[in-house]
Amino acid sequence: MTKVYNIAIDGPAGAGKSTIARSAAEKLHFVYVDTGAMYRAMALHFLRNGISPEDENAVSEAVLGANVTISYVDGVQQVLLNGENVSEVIRTPKVSDMASAVSVYMPVREKLVELQRELALKENIIMDGRDIGTCVLPDADLKIYMTADSRVRAIRRYKEMEAKGEKCDLDEIEADIIERDRRDMNREHSPLRQAEDAVLLDTSHMNIEETVDRILELFDEKTGKEGGLWK
Ligand code: DC
Repeated sequence: MTKVYNIAIDGPAGAGKSTIARSAAEKLHFVYVDTGAMYRAMALHFLRNGISPEDENAVSEAVLGANVTISYVDGVQQVLLNGENVSEVIRTPKVSDMASAVSVYMPVREKLVELQRELALKENIIMDGRDIGTCVLPDADLKIYMTADSRVRAIRRYKEMEAKGEKCDLDEIEADIIERDRRDMNREHSPLRQAEDAVLLDTSHMNIEETVDRILELFDEKTGKEGGLWK
């Protein structure tokens, strides 16, 4: 069997993981897997069914009725909830909060981690999330822990929302990011933390291109590919 390569990128909300991972995947001709979208799709299912995030039993039962799958259209990941493409509607602050709140429960995590591992076995992928290097793909060829100052992350989110014409408040965005980090880092199961063998990338003062280049460089160093094969 030919070897498949896996790159894991973890880090807090708004660190730029998805933008960077998508761009690095394009350059490497790898598939980009956004695991946050899977938690968001699951969260949307709970929101639509009026499930309280505090009610672990109700969440665990509702997981059984949520079939989350992904597909690719022109190389872009689409996330499907019971066959419906929900890729756009999961990008709201309400869904972000719900995803963070319900991702503390094992039944939610187990179902999605299984799907993530299956994907990683099949082809070369870059996967981003919170527990990829520590739990989902402990043997990944390269692990990155990407972070940035919370104000910088809030400004990036603010600009994204502003560009979409959405009303937003910078302080509120930052408070929301800090709260989400606190929850994601302090939960019992698979909390967000840097894997021992992950490389720390603080992108507070790095632009997208510099960050992507650094990842490609690290990948070359780790795998001995020396660029030629990928570029
Ligand atoms: O990356 P994101 O903002 O789309 O993720 C939304 C939430 O999903 C995040 O706050 C925590 C949860 N999540 C997780 O627990 N594990 C992952 N691998 C990815 C996301």
